[in-house]
Amino acid sequence: MFQNRLTRMLGIQHPILQGGMQWVSRAELAGAVSEAGGLGILSALTFPTPQEFAAEIKRTRAITGKPFGVNLTLLPTMKPINIESYIDVIINEGVKIVETAGRSPEPYMERLKGAGIIVIHKCVAVRFAKTAERIGCDVVSIDGFECAGHPGEEDITSLILVPLTVDAVKIPVVASGGFGDARGFVAALALGAEGVNMGTRFVATQEAPVHPRVKEWFIRASERDTMLVQRSLKNTGRVLRNPIAEKVAEMERHGARLEDLAPLITGQRGKKLLETGDLDYGLQTCGQVVGLIHDVPTVKDLVDRMMTEAKEIVVRLQTVSET
Ligand SMILES: Cc1cc2nc3c(=O)[nH]c(=O)nc-3n(C[C@H](O)[C@H](O)[C@H](O)COP(=O)(O)O)c2cc1C
Repeated sequence: MFQNRLTRMLGIQHPILQGGMQWVSRAELAGAVSEAGGLGILSALTFPTPQEFAAEIKRTRAITGKPFGVNLTLLPTMKPINIESYIDVIINEGVKIVETAGRSPEPYMERLKGAGIIVIHKCVAVRFAKTAERIGCDVVSIDGFECAGHPGEEDITSLILVPLTVDAVKIPVVASGGFGDARGFVAALALGAEGVNMGTRFVATQEAPVHPRVKEWFIRASERDTMLVQRSLKNTGRVLRNPIAEKVAEMERHGARLEDLAPLITGQRGKKLLETGDLDYGLQTCGQVVGLIHDVPTVKDLVDRMMTEAKEIVVRLQTVSET
């Protein structure tokens, strides 16, 4: 029922994408999302070396024969990363879909397109979406202010950003940020998007390779439990409220610099939190949609439920309009 340009281009059954998530988007999760008919996306930089990344692509292939993608996050990192070496792996392993984020993928477009790769660029402003289209990206994924991770510095929510982006570009638009159930999915289509990209919702699934206490935290958290950190660095991140996040925000209010914040905001702390379930250990990326999460289904049950309920909503809307 929801087949469109995006599903045809990506070779998927349902227009549901699982955004790349540092430490979370491993084979188990990405493979399960693709197997369920959506598009699973591995996070390349979760793997410290290109060799480990290549092994993870093989592990994903053992789980699913269906298309999956790889996320390349192009944000500044404390340790320099050789992105080209990860692109070598993507090309050598024959991955055909890449999600870029963080900054313009322009320096890498020639290689990616030359290898026949579909590039989905995820960004946070209409002008960035237009640039993505101009430089040859195939799909633009637009992340509203509600989203987990880096919503940018302009605080425009999905309800505004999605239709504005749809009006501004001709390539398919994916709505990202704030989506977690069938209602949001149908709303995204109504806004003109051709699919949704979800991060937070997929963390609370059986297959997500994170400690069970993190999933329980996501169930407990309400829509009021996320906060913004790193705004003073112009690298805003939306995370779940915990003592470390509060401390970072307080230090920022007192003029702390990157060097002062680095020991607290390091991704290594976030990694340990996810592995050990010590919820106060680091920053936990999370979107406001966490308030809509009340269970930890399998990925397949989640995707099936969203599709079944989405069809029911469409039928209900048609019935209402006919009476
Ligand atoms: C735990 C977590 C880690 C994330 N890490 C990344 C990342 O490394 N790179 C990236 O481009 N997006 C990252 N994201 C953002 C997601 O890919 C996606 O854009 C976002 O979660 C969509 O908003 P939602 O959480 O409201 O669904 C992360 C999200 C979560 C929840």
